[in-house]
Amino acid sequence: MNDRQSTPGVPLRIGILGAGGIATIPEGVLPNIHHIAHKIELVAIADVVVERAHSAAAQYGIPHVYDSLSAMLDDASIDAVINLTPIPMHAATSLEIIKRGKHLVVEKPIATTLEEANAIIELARSKGLTVVCAPPDMLHAPYIEARRLIQADTIGKVAFARVRSSHAGPGGSPDGWPLDPTWFYQTGSGPLFDMGVYGIHEITGMLGPAKRVTAFSGITEPTRVVRGGPYAGKEIEVTVADNNLFMLDFGDSTFAVIDGTFNVHASRSPKVEVFGRRGAMSVYNPTGENLAVYRADAADGVDGWIVPRNWSQTNEEWSLKLQRAILIDHLVDCVRSGADPVLSAEHARHALEIMIAVVTSAREGRVVELTTTF
Ligand SMILES: NC(=O)c1ccc[n+]([C@@H]2O[C@H](COP(=O)([O-])OP(=O)(O)OC[C@H]3O[C@@H](n4cnc5c(N)ncnc54)[C@H](O)[C@@H]3O)[C@@H](O)[C@H]2O)c1
Repeated sequence: MNDRQSTPGVPLRIGILGAGGIATIPEGVLPNIHHIAHKIELVAIADVVVERAHSAAAQYGIPHVYDSLSAMLDDASIDAVINLTPIPMHAATSLEIIKRGKHLVVEKPIATTLEEANAIIELARSKGLTVVCAPPDMLHAPYIEARRLIQADTIGKVAFARVRSSHAGPGGSPDGWPLDPTWFYQTGSGPLFDMGVYGIHEITGMLGPAKRVTAFSGITEPTRVVRGGPYAGKEIEVTVADNNLFMLDFGDSTFAVIDGTFNVHASRSPKVEVFGRRGAMSVYNPTGENLAVYRADAADGVDGWIVPRNWSQTNEEWSLKLQRAILIDHLVDCVRSGADPVLSAEHARHALEIMIAVVTSAREGRVVELTTTF
């Protein structure tokens, strides 16, 4: 890291890789990056479909446009690259970014093999570079507070958790999908890597690393039809499991069940529920409560739902405002302070190992032991 990058008040110079959905949708990176305009300078954007990069550059005032990552990396003025490419491209592009001495934000998952994740971690460490990995959930106040309350033994020993981590699939709702969603349904991607990854980060963020995995996976229908947006009516051949249910064993009889599917049109259950020996907890409830806690014996003769107060509304408002740009805010803070990211590559590698174990477990019909931690 050079002196400039660690100097408070000097903006970190950013290059954006990929000008598709997550770069440009309202909850994505570019529409919300103005909230941290004082911390960064948007220097360049690259996309292999260069017209997309030109269009985003014009809209967001980005001075330099490139048609490839390597061309953008020749621009010596960039300090960090935000990797917003499709899942199968993450590892190769991230390794190239780090090799060229740039800090990295990478969309989820970090890679698709453990070897690639290890290489990213080792190379970044050897070069003193910071890596921030999506998803940003463990920066959200309800999860931070839920973890604190669990560690403080508020609901007693955790028996099990239920984690919802699915939607109807890209193009699966009439609201539309801005680009062709085919790649999400095909080998190298799928709902496990695209959606299950959120639930895995949330529950391991709250309970810590898991020890074992067992899973069922399948393809519900061999063909999907895009329901809305510019690609409405397009038929997609589904070549990867679009329906994964799996269980994590954290040891000492603590379990979690997670779905990672493109088969949830609607749900009225909380995002995460945790059941403990002295209470229960639910995060992002359909009632609108972001965190609810139930205590058995909250007081003498009293069982009931209680209101957690000791959590940061400011933090919650900040993450709601920044949306996906919070990844870049976190990178800048870590580079400036030298702190290890909360959204660490080690956590992302553990999540990836779980996803790979899900595939193995479902294919071979067995429990898979995990080796990584964070
Ligand atoms: N779309 C969403 O709502 C959403 C939400 C959260 C996270 N994500 C994550 O964001 C990432 C991208 O998803 P998306 O929906 O934006 O995909 P997308 O297909 O809409 O956009 C990807 C862009 O990357 C470009 N690209 C592909 N390979 C490239 C390369 N080698 N160099 C430069 N550009 C390249 C494509 O041309 C395209 O413009 C994925 O990891 C996905 O999991 C997407």
